[in-house]
Amino acid sequence: MSKPRVFVARVIPDAGLRPILEACDATVWQDELPPPREELLRVVEGCDGILALLTDRIDGELLERAGSQLKVVSNFAVGYDNVDVPACTARGVAVGNTPGVLTETTADLAWALLMAAARRLPESERYVRDGHWRTWGPMTLLGPDIHGATIGIVGFGRIGQAVARRARGFGMKVIYQNRSEVDPALEAEFEATGMPLEELLPQADFVSIHVSLSAETKGLIDAEHLSWMKPTAILVNTSRGPVVDTDALVDALRRGVIAGAALDVTDPEPLPADHPLVGLDRCLVVPHIASASFATRNRMASMAAANLLAGVRGERLPNPVNPEIYG
Ligand code: DGY
Repeated sequence: MSKPRVFVARVIPDAGLRPILEACDATVWQDELPPPREELLRVVEGCDGILALLTDRIDGELLERAGSQLKVVSNFAVGYDNVDVPACTARGVAVGNTPGVLTETTADLAWALLMAAARRLPESERYVRDGHWRTWGPMTLLGPDIHGATIGIVGFGRIGQAVARRARGFGMKVIYQNRSEVDPALEAEFEATGMPLEELLPQADFVSIHVSLSAETKGLIDAEHLSWMKPTAILVNTSRGPVVDTDALVDALRRGVIAGAALDVTDPEPLPADHPLVGLDRCLVVPHIASASFATRNRMASMAAANLLAGVRGERLPNPVNPEIYG
C-alpha cells in the first residue's frame, strides 16, 4: 500500500519529523522562510495531509487546490488564526493544534518581557555597550517596581492563569478580564478579581494580553483603550499582533500615554527593522519566540505529528480544533 502524501511546511524538531518521514511520503519545505503562496498552492496538490505553521495561510483557495483527498491540516501552534476552520470543516478536513504544551513556556516569556521592560534591561544593556557607563547614577535608568504592583490580565485562559500564578510570587495584585465567567475556585486559587476592561485598564501597572485572535479581539487594544491606561503602565503582548492597533500604540508611546510596551507579536509580522516601534526606546520587540524553548518545541513537534498521522489514517486527531467533523 502506498504511503500517504504529506507536505510539511518547515523543518521541525526531530521528535515530530522522524515519525512523519517514517510513515509518509513527505515533502518538507527546507527554507527558513515560509513557502511563497504560489509555491504552497502547488506543493499541496494531491496531499492527504498538511503540517502548517502560523505563517501559512490555509484558506478555501488552498483547500481547493489540495483536492478532495486532503484529510488533515495539522497546525504547529496552539493558535490557528491562519487556518479557515469553517472552510476545513465544510470539506470534512480535520484541523489539529498543539494546546497545553506551550502554556508555561509562553507565561515565562510574558514575564521575561514584563520584567525587562519595567527594569529597562534593553536600554541598560545598550547603555553599557555604547560606553555610557561612567559612574553609579542615582537617577540613572529608573523604572517601576514589579513586586507589589497590579497586573491586569486580558484573557484568563490557560496562559493568562499561568501568568497570574507567577504574579503571586511577586506579591502582586491580580485583576483580569475574560469574555466568559471564570470558575470561582480558580479566582480563589489565583486571588484574582475579574472586571471589565474599562475598570482593569485604569488600575493596572502592567497589562498582559492572552486572548486568541478573532473578529472580536482584532484591534481590541485601540487608541481609546490605551488612553484608559496609566501613563506609568507597561503593555505586554504575547498573544497575536493584530489584537493591538499598531498605529495607536506607536502614538501612545510617542505621546507618553503609556510608559512602555514589550511585544513578542506584532502587526505586521515580521516587523521591518525601520518600523517606528523598533526605534522607540521604551518599546521592546522580540520575534515571536514565546514557545521557543527546546522542550516545548519538541513537544509541539510530536503533537503536530500525532495529529497529522492520525488524520491521514482517517483516525480522530488527538487534539482536534473542529471535533464536530466526527459527528
Ligand atoms: C502558538 O502556538 O500559537 C504560538 O504563537 C507559536 O508557538
